[in-house]
Amino acid sequence: MPSTRLTAVYPGSFDPLTNGHLDVIARASRLVGYLIVAVLNNTQKQPLFSVTERTDMLREATSNISNVEIDSFSGLLVDYAARRSAGAIVRGIRAISDYEIELQMALINRRLRPETETIFLMASEEYSFVSSRMVKEIITLKGDVSSFVPPAVAARLKKAASREVPPSLPDPTA
Ligand code: PNS
Repeated sequence: MPSTRLTAVYPGSFDPLTNGHLDVIARASRLVGYLIVAVLNNTQKQPLFSVTERTDMLREATSNISNVEIDSFSGLLVDYAARRSAGAIVRGIRAISDYEIELQMALINRRLRPETETIFLMASEEYSFVSSRMVKEIITLKGDVSSFVPPAVAARLKKAASREVPPSLPDPTA
């Protein structure tokens, strides 16, 4: 049982959701009272999956966790956190290479809204090398992603990769 009434936001692109994200969601949901997993709706990036597809996959994978809500947002993260009365932002850190950018984001967010604390969770060792970008590269090259993502995500990835001209996957022969 979570020991606090704190509401936290776990933001990200989740394009696609990986087992590493799921691990962070499961652990954060045990720490805070209510966890909002918020998919960034970024109009400047060409994602592999639409926001609706990404929120659907997240809902499916987290349906067994009662204090988790799936949502999407655009604009500043701290403004979204304020709208949702969230006191904290959760981010996962896999390796030292994540630390620099995460520190920068946390400090910017703190300057923009000091009331919102950033909580970092260290990735479990078994997922510390998994990233959405690598998963997309593996599927483009017809590799097996089943140990990196939930089964439903793997199925959707296969479908996306078999589209005649994948809209946003890099051309492996280029
Ligand atoms: O999964 P990602 O792509 O590493 O997540 C990045 C995310 C969504 C946390 C970040 O891009 C973000 O917060 N975007 C919202 C815009 C914003 O608030 N920018 C200022 C803080 S850096």
